[in-house]
Amino acid sequence: MGAGPGDPELITVKGARLLKQADYVLSTGSLVPRELFDGISAEVEDSKGLDIDQIVDRLATAARTGRRVVRVHTGDPAIFGAVQEQRARLHALGIPTATVPGVTSALAAAAALDAELTLPGLTQTVVFSRTAGRTPMPPAESLAALAALGNSTLCLYLSASLTDKVARELVAGGRSPDTPVAVVQYASMAHKQRILRCTLATLADEVRAARIRAQAMLLVGPAVDPHNKERVGEFDSRLYARDFSHRFRKAADTTHGSTPRTPRGRCFEPAATLEPGHE
Ligand SMILES: C[S@@+](CC[C@H](N)C(=O)[O-])C[C@H]1O[C@@H](n2cnc3c(N)ncnc32)[C@H](O)[C@@H]1O
Repeated sequence: MGAGPGDPELITVKGARLLKQADYVLSTGSLVPRELFDGISAEVEDSKGLDIDQIVDRLATAARTGRRVVRVHTGDPAIFGAVQEQRARLHALGIPTATVPGVTSALAAAAALDAELTLPGLTQTVVFSRTAGRTPMPPAESLAALAALGNSTLCLYLSASLTDKVARELVAGGRSPDTPVAVVQYASMAHKQRILRCTLATLADEVRAARIRAQAMLLVGPAVDPHNKERVGEFDSRLYARDFSHRFRKAADTTHGSTPRTPRGRCFEPAATLEPGHE
């Protein structure tokens, strides 16, 4: 189960219910808010001192004795969660698993910035990645290679202590040194969250000066330019454009008598697939 990025209110309703119903909870520790376990009756254990065999042994033993077991991970378990190794071992022991998602820290960081990562006309692509640390990167996914993906917004996990390398590789891959970067440490956590705005050219110095080394998300790309908020009309979607028709709304006649300028469905996939609230 994903516990979300740190704000105890950012767990899903389903996740909170499963915690209430659990008999045994094994949590990854530091970034999982303690408040999530207030008032629950389960035995709660922290896995940060355990190796993979001990973790699987704890989960399997609890499951085999009929206890309802919840394994809690920070953010969303599918992103750098190290869950597959647990899942595969449990399955080999005949113990089924299921996943409940959580808010990943990249999206909590975007919320902290009050920013949209996919701005029409600028970028429509978000990349979740990291720079190589002790886990090597597949060569085709080096930051230099990812930099080549146009104006895409790069959300870099596990990279706050390697900002020299991040900036060097992204610039080598073709990103301008002026590319906006936002560093969000402890995203969503009251009293702890910090936001640092800089560019690739200044990233390493700024992060060093702010003494940020861990628990931080790097968001890179023009979508996180803080001035975007002042650019009224520049990144508008077609969905709410007055001259754009779709299944739920007919275009206003903006041409005083002639037919609407934008053909139905020009900028979107078939209009029939659009739902309200879908941008
Ligand atoms: C092992 S990964 C786990 C990611 C997690 N599964 C998720 O979905 O957010 C740990 C990295 O996630 C990022 N991270 C996790 N929580 C964060 C938070 N509240 N604020 C900023 N970054 C966070 C940091 O980059 C950290 O190095």
